[in-house]
Amino acid sequence: MAITITINGEAHALDVEPDTPLLWAIRETAGLTGTKFGCGISACGACTVHLNGRAVRSCTLPVSLAEGGTVTTIEGLASGGMLHKVQQAWIAHQVPQCGYCQSGIIMAVTALLEQHPHPSDEEIDATITNICRCGTFVRVRRAIHAVAES
Ligand code: FES
Ligand code: FES
Repeated sequence: MAITITINGEAHALDVEPDTPLLWAIRETAGLTGTKFGCGISACGACTVHLNGRAVRSCTLPVSLAEGGTVTTIEGLASGGMLHKVQQAWIAHQVPQCGYCQSGIIMAVTALLEQHPHPSDEEIDATITNICRCGTFVRVRRAIHAVAES
């Protein structure tokens, strides 16, 4: 049975089992591989996407819970040929190292800034709990503040 989800503004009828994690529906069925697999247990945040405007860890979320919903992935952040201001800050502040965790972090950060345009360090620490094995946390925080002040 197809599960219909709007991903990055486009309706997708995904032929997947209802308990398939949203991550695999996005990557393997919809073919959008910008969202990454890290741990599979909701611990690292590499798989973060927006579901109806909220950041979710898609590796443990059954695709059936997203049925009829709106998903945004890293591929859908830029618009009109312009990178999102968070993506621009990531480049300006040279945040990524290997880059593997960064699409998840960027999705978590964009959701945070939608809710809290000027987050404190405490709010950043409490919300951006994504794991980066390259240790980019200081640059992540610096880039978030730069976006907040822009
Ligand atoms: S892969 Fe989903 S939280 Fe790590
Ligand atoms: S940039 Fe390498 S894991 Fe985060």
